[in-house]
Amino acid sequence: MREEKSIEIQHVLAFNCVDFKYANNGSYVVKGLNFSVNDGEFVSIIGPSGSGKTTLFRLITGLENPSSGTIQINGHYTEKRLGSVGYMPQQDLLMPWRTVYENVVVPLEIKGINPRSQKEEIYDMLNEFGLKGFEQEYPNKLSGGMKQRVSFLRTILTGAKVLLLDEPFSALDAITRLAMQEWLVDKWENLKKTILFITHDVDEALLLSDRIFIITDKPITHFKEIIVPLGRPRKIRDLAQPEIITIKELMLKELRMDVDTYENN
Ligand SMILES: Nc1ncnc2c1ncn2[C@@H]1O[C@H](COP(=O)(O)OP(=O)(O)OP(=O)(O)O)[C@@H](O)[C@H]1O
Ligand SMILES: [Mg+2]
Repeated sequence: MREEKSIEIQHVLAFNCVDFKYANNGSYVVKGLNFSVNDGEFVSIIGPSGSGKTTLFRLITGLENPSSGTIQINGHYTEKRLGSVGYMPQQDLLMPWRTVYENVVVPLEIKGINPRSQKEEIYDMLNEFGLKGFEQEYPNKLSGGMKQRVSFLRTILTGAKVLLLDEPFSALDAITRLAMQEWLVDKWENLKKTILFITHDVDEALLLSDRIFIITDKPITHFKEIIVPLGRPRKIRDLAQPEIITIKELMLKELRMDVDTYENN
């Protein structure tokens, strides 16, 4: 009994038999789903468009609630999940009328903390995130990668242990994306956060994750789970290892994607 409890506490997130459908939409998006994520893990969720990835994040944040079943965060069952996780949504939601600095301090303002009390630390973080000199610029002056870093820093400043990143790099070109992937892993290792990361990109999932959850059914009843057999730090060339190529082929098959089509994209 005691042992069970200590195992449970390691999970920062758990879905227990979760069903969900939108009120205005007759079919279930999630049905009887069970999974858990451990403290400090990097887990990617990959699946076709419309399969329910963003819906999973909306459930985790509490923007939606399960039709039945429960979601446990940091060891507690709670309906009030808003605020216990940091959510970086799929669209770039930077406020164009606010400067970079004013955008990243939003989570502090929401908590009623005066950002001026932490201005020095925040400027240090902006520097560390490659945004030095842009603190007082507006988002329209930033490159795509910089906007993503502002958005990520804002998510970190929620102070949440669990970060949900919904396709953060999908709009970036291949070179910027690779630089951002390396940057993200570096930040994740230093910050000791738990990350759930939605992507369409098989290589991105293999490069970043400890585990990958593949969505193969609709509604989502389970994930096909892959434990990535690579140590850290990782390099892009690690993806050329025969074992990883075999896993990649298996993932593409699960996603019903043709390997040649994928490689040519
Ligand atoms: N607010 C909503 N109201 C009703 N139905 C919705 C709503 N949001 C999403 N859906 C439906 O739920 C299903 C899952 O949508 P969701 O946005 O979670 O998919 P996704 O996997 O994130 O897709 P993408 O890869 O395109 O972002 C889809 O069939 C979609 O039409
Ligand atoms: Mg989505």
